[in-house]
Amino acid sequence: MGRLIRIFDTTLRDGEQSPGASLTVPDKVRIARQLEDLGVDVIEAGFPVSSPGDFQSVREVGKIIKKCQVAALARALPQDIDAGLKALETAAKPRLHVFLATSKIHRQYKLGKAKSEILRIAVEAVSRARKGVADVEFSPEDATRTEPKFLLEVAEAVAEAGAGTINIPDTVGYTVPEEFGKLIAFLRARLDKKIRISVHCHNDLGLAVANSLTALAAGADQVEVAINGIGERAGNASLEEIAVGLHIRRDSWKLETNINLAEIYRTSRLVSNLTGLIVQRNKAVVGENAFAHEAGIHQDGILKDRRTYEIIEPSLIGVPESVLVLGKHSGRHALANRLLRLGYRLKDTELQKIFIRFKELADKKKEVNDQDLVALMEEVLMPLTETYTLDYLSTTSGTNTVPMATVRLKKGKEILQAISSGDGPVDAACHAVDQLTGISARLTDYRITAVTGGKDALGEASLKIAIDNREVPGRAVSTDIIEASVKAYLNAVNRHLQNKRINS
Ligand code: KIV
Ligand code: ZN
Repeated sequence: MGRLIRIFDTTLRDGEQSPGASLTVPDKVRIARQLEDLGVDVIEAGFPVSSPGDFQSVREVGKIIKKCQVAALARALPQDIDAGLKALETAAKPRLHVFLATSKIHRQYKLGKAKSEILRIAVEAVSRARKGVADVEFSPEDATRTEPKFLLEVAEAVAEAGAGTINIPDTVGYTVPEEFGKLIAFLRARLDKKIRISVHCHNDLGLAVANSLTALAAGADQVEVAINGIGERAGNASLEEIAVGLHIRRDSWKLETNINLAEIYRTSRLVSNLTGLIVQRNKAVVGENAFAHEAGIHQDGILKDRRTYEIIEPSLIGVPESVLVLGKHSGRHALANRLLRLGYRLKDTELQKIFIRFKELADKKKEVNDQDLVALMEEVLMPLTETYTLDYLSTTSGTNTVPMATVRLKKGKEILQAISSGDGPVDAACHAVDQLTGISARLTDYRITAVTGGKDALGEASLKIAIDNREVPGRAVSTDIIEASVKAYLNAVNRHLQNKRINS
């Protein structure tokens, strides 16, 4: 048995800070449930003072999670700490995570504070937090660019004030494995053995996992990670790479985690589906190509014995052996299995609703793919209240003609109309929608696919729009692809408005 490492998952907090990610409160609750099944030790559920949505998610996650600890983030400010403590009231095992920058560059340019003030504020913040909760974690932000002597001084002071875990963040992904390992060994040798040392690495130089593993080997007790490595900028250390790496090379690391590896693939799919952040094909452990073999020599080797070119058995992380094609002849059992693989564990009543919609879709479409199922899940479990519906659309375009669109929308009993030009008829119509809704969105992804064959084929438009740095998906079908596109755009706008209502 190796030393047990605690896994602190920050998918719902740092992960959700990824540009392009968008999660509603119900999405976060769904992911938290799956993280509990995955066996993480701590779920950081949000930053309560940052928005009503974050406050609510910490409360809702706290209500349903019983096995893991639930953490909330707070700056070293009274209002943050109080909001964090209030949000954590529902949690069975709460932890408040307080942070304050300590590096010279942050002290000088961001905070305008001397070392002595930083020390005082950190100690006061931890003492205030400890009055409301027994478990407090403190992070000296930008720790890896902080003078090690001052870092130790802060760590000792906050430990004395009651912080049980000191997290060492490589906030800007600057450190390298050897240097980080030495820093952790330096702190471990000096801090009280009762104090847990945690590490939190960002991936700006592609070293988040290497830095984290080196720190664990040097004596850290906890590692902060996110599913699929999502997070601020280039992301956080990826949970799956660390957990699987520690397992496959346990002979070398001699460290253990409580992670149930068989839940990894499902968790990765769920997070990708709900955040809208696609996992890169060649991503280690969970990418589509991670178990694909292209070269003839490799295929030959694999057929003789998989171990020739595969160090991770797909079943270890829960990748299904074979994938059945879902179509109109598929039954409830096959559908439930595929949804489970995508991370959706459904109650019978939910499955029944999805199954009815699945059959309707399968009647129109030869093959129902994973994206269709995710869209169905959203449609059925979180029915969209349409603020705007398309009442009328007319477009003109052609050679040497400025593309124009007339769009009429219904909002309750109101009828709104606008005329606009654009680079093409779809662009013109989307501009008209923007004028009418007052929402300025940027199209970040746009695809048209044929749903059925023949001249009267149904076209499906699927797209993503970015509003306030968040991506929102939209889909619609029609025999007219311009109409499908405008309806998909409107579908995303309505979804954005619904998310705003839920999160406010
Ligand atoms: O990267 C960072 O420094 C953080 C802290 C809040 C821990 O996310
Ligand atoms: Zn971070």
